[in-house]
Amino acid sequence: MQIDALLEEYISKLPDSTVKEAMHYSLSAGGKRIRPNLLYAVLKGYGVDTTVGDPFSCALEMIHTYSLIHDDLPAMDNDNLRRGKLTCHKQFDEATAILAGDGLLTYAFQVAASSQQDAVIVQECISILSGMAGPAGMVYGQQLDIEAENQNIDWKQLQQIHQHKTGCLLTAPLMMGALLAKHQEDLPKWEKIGYALGLAFQIQDDVLDVELTAKEFGKSNSDIKNHKGTSVSLLGIQAAKDMMNKLYHQVMDDLGAIDGFLSESLVEYIHRIQIRRK
Ligand code: IPE
Ligand code: IPE
Ligand code: MG
Ligand code: MG
Ligand code: MG
Repeated sequence: MQIDALLEEYISKLPDSTVKEAMHYSLSAGGKRIRPNLLYAVLKGYGVDTTVGDPFSCALEMIHTYSLIHDDLPAMDNDNLRRGKLTCHKQFDEATAILAGDGLLTYAFQVAASSQQDAVIVQECISILSGMAGPAGMVYGQQLDIEAENQNIDWKQLQQIHQHKTGCLLTAPLMMGALLAKHQEDLPKWEKIGYALGLAFQIQDDVLDVELTAKEFGKSNSDIKNHKGTSVSLLGIQAAKDMMNKLYHQVMDDLGAIDGFLSESLVEYIHRIQIRRK
């Protein structure tokens, strides 16, 4: 079953409430589904039935969506537009948006724990997912991002922010895919690929934030308003693009060097991400 239909099914199991409506609103607003797609592409490259990834792909998308809902709150980036629609707190209210994020985060782990795969593998996947999402992962990166507003930061500090706030949740699906495909020995390679991909992806997000209108981007472009240190403010737009392309290139090369992994469809998918305008 496709990711959208699976998410619908999981949400439909919840009791009717405003928080359920808000979770559904943000989940179905039209995200690119990059993290689920990465998980499925890794499974496919190892020749494994992609349905083994189903609960985990949904958990990833729920956690990512929660991170966006909270990222948009007035106390954080204070944005009005997300995925082409009003942000959750604008469509509902702040309390509901906070709870929708809380609901998506906790429900993600209930969904992940319902996987019927080998219990040790499920436990390892949940450990990766929680580590990458939590206070040593995405949450840590978001804290550093907020603290860096109005500060002069250097490239090393920005890289640290990017790799945590964005790289962690892009690395998780790659590592979970390798675990579910029973290729534990490849985890260090996927971790390296994930961080390069995450850095490339966030540099690109910073570039698109200045190049696109909010309407084109589907979200408020607020980095300048928020005095964020970004790859564009630090490096300039051309150097940022060069760095991004170099990193995507490195990712493609590293993908081709994993023994027993057929990288074509993942390489093709990452190329689509590289040329995205949304
Ligand atoms: C947006 O991620 C937040 C960043 C990490 C830059 P995506 O660009 O994957 O957002 P959606 O899921 O398509 O809305
Ligand atoms: C935040 O980065 C990434 C998250 C962990 C949510 P941004 O603040 O740049 O993401 P956008 O541009 O609002 O999607
Ligand atoms: Mg932010
Ligand atoms: Mg933001
Ligand atoms: Mg951004």
